[in-house]
Amino acid sequence: MAIAHRTAHDGLRASIVIGWSQCLFFQELSLESRISGVADPRHLTYCYANLEQLRVYNVPPETTVDSAGIVERYFLQPLPKLPNGYPNGWMSAKDLTVLFNAGQFAKGDVLEVGPWLGRSTTAISAGLRQREADGATPLKYDTIDFGITSAEEWVERFDEPFRLGKDKGRVAEAVYHPGGTIAVLIQNLKSNDLLKYVTNITRGDFLDSPIAREYGLIFCDATHDDKEIHRHLPRLAELAAPGCVLVFDDVITEERADLVCGYLNVSDRFMTRTVYPERKTRCKLLVVETKS
Ligand SMILES: C[S@@+](CC[C@H](N)C(=O)[O-])C[C@H]1O[C@@H](n2cnc3c(N)ncnc32)[C@H](O)[C@@H]1O
Repeated sequence: MAIAHRTAHDGLRASIVIGWSQCLFFQELSLESRISGVADPRHLTYCYANLEQLRVYNVPPETTVDSAGIVERYFLQPLPKLPNGYPNGWMSAKDLTVLFNAGQFAKGDVLEVGPWLGRSTTAISAGLRQREADGATPLKYDTIDFGITSAEEWVERFDEPFRLGKDKGRVAEAVYHPGGTIAVLIQNLKSNDLLKYVTNITRGDFLDSPIAREYGLIFCDATHDDKEIHRHLPRLAELAAPGCVLVFDDVITEERADLVCGYLNVSDRFMTRTVYPERKTRCKLLVVETKS
């Protein structure tokens, strides 16, 4: 790594040059100490010195999905803004970006287990829309969720009490919406004109579903603990085509990642938590690419 300095119209700038990487300029005075030795700090635009973040944020413009490394591949395109935004949920913008790119560059049909109200589904279907706009043939996109419609069903499915105040009442609002959470999911997709990119919306337990395709991209938001991993992974592994990309939410330790990968023919993997370790970024996806 070399540190280079140059003069710009608004004063002296400091830039970090890392291999192929370009420079990033930040207005954060707090990083002053990291670039000591440069001229008057009042005129400096400071560099962002977290190399991992720089690498991801700063994907060179000539990078393509085939030339990118595994991390860059899923941050290649920024998350698009949508007329009605992304539905309520728990996924961070960075993790949504991963799903958007996974959808845009999917190599085969797509399966999602656990769309809830469609926050993740919106990112994936926006990726599929972009993929088609770029001239690719449409893919099938199947989703399945318990589609909870009552407190009793919640208790039965999740084996935990149903709290009216959960997530500021938003959970109860969706469950008691006429038609339950699946109706809200459909409404949310429709509001961004994305419903047409979703082929099937199934209500029920994924393990009971008659799904029989092979998939090139699978997103599973039902691997929150060891029990769910052992319950869902055998069937997911059967449905994964060679070269499949599988993305799992809430896998943030190497032990859990190993447990998931133990079911798969893995060629490469990364966790977004490793790329963005700060808690406030709320990154918690495991991305797995399987062998072709
Ligand atoms: C954390 S929520 C998903 C949040 C959603 N992906 C988002 O971005 O907002 C998990 C979802 O998985 C669903 N789920 C869990 N296990 C399932 C299974 N075996 N079959 C179908 N759905 C399941 C639950 O009903 C719930 O809606």
